Amino acid sequence: MDPEFDGSELGLRFRLAPPFALESARIFQKRERELQQCFACWAVDGETKVFLDTMRPLNFRLEGPPGVGKNEIVYELASQLGRPLYVIQGHEELTPEDLALVLVPNASDGSTPGVGFSYNASPLVSALRRGGLFFFDEINRVPERTLAPLASVLDDRKRIYSALVARDISPPNEDFKASFRFCCAMNPEGSARGGLPDYIDERTLPVIRVDYMSLDDLVPILSKYLNPSTELLHAFRTWYEEDERRHLSTRQARTLVQYAMSIAWQTKVGPDDAIRQSSEQVGIKSKTDDGEPDNDADEEEPDDSDDDGKQ
Ligand SMILES: Nc1ncnc2c1ncn2[C@@H]1O[C@H](COP(=O)(O)OP(=O)(O)OP(=O)(O)O)[C@@H](O)[C@H]1O
Ligand SMILES: [Mg+2]
Repeated sequence: MDPEFDGSELGLRFRLAPPFALESARIFQKRERELQQCFACWAVDGETKVFLDTMRPLNFRLEGPPGVGKNEIVYELASQLGRPLYVIQGHEELTPEDLALVLVPNASDGSTPGVGFSYNASPLVSALRRGGLFFFDEINRVPERTLAPLASVLDDRKRIYSALVARDISPPNEDFKASFRFCCAMNPEGSARGGLPDYIDERTLPVIRVDYMSLDDLVPILSKYLNPSTELLHAFRTWYEEDERRHLSTRQARTLVQYAMSIAWQTKVGPDDAIRQSSEQVGIKSKTDDGEPDNDADEEEPDDSDDDGKQ
């Protein structure tokens, strides 16, 4: 694929990042409420899936525990909107320049070294330049100083400062500026740093909460992904219901049932045993061992404390 260069009107030449490649065989189910909230934030007409130019978009933030489907929601948005999606995965080593432009050695042909350097645009700059959708995943893992250049992207300015070239980089025209959309995701408990600095927190509202799926929502997803036998799915239901599994993410549910299918096939144990064995190894917490105070237990009155008194 030919590299795409951009930036001539800024007196620059940088290579744009390619959009994120959505999997063609993606399965997406449910989450109607969350999708509708995301569309509302992005000023999307619910019927036509076209951006409303009479409304300004908001930079929403998906929050929820691991594996519940935050990324999947963003991929579904991009798929329904039919617009290019650009993604940055947040991590502890991300630098401010990783959000803007980085200098990279030119590729060599394998036999001779490349000559010179060129600028690569980040997925964020690429989204701004193409009027695309941008998703900042795990935004709360990023060092605070790296988030500073985001402030100007997230308000009406819609531009980012690159210290490398000492320039602001903006969308090339008003249409692309109007169609740029930003969202981010994080697990509030998932980083040592915890929350976001106030000025980024305020610019990435509202929060759209993504929670564990109900059993009834999980089952059709498992059927579609894994096509387990009716007996195994029934065993999964029974196992789930008998301990009121509250903390089973969609990802864990997939792993659990997939592994149970392999166990059943290899060892010829029945579906109930296969689910039980698999759950032990997948490390799934039950309501009673998740470390949270058990409300039922808290509410218990010490009615039968006579016994204690006698001891
Ligand atoms: N709505 C959905 N429909 C179908 N499958 C889903 C859905 N949501 C999640 N999944 C399944 O669960 C897996 C985990 O989802 P995803 O990666 O989006 O979670 P996440 O919340 O972003 O997790 P993390 O916090 O670890 O990044 C997906 O790979 C997919 O298999
Ligand atoms: Mg994720």
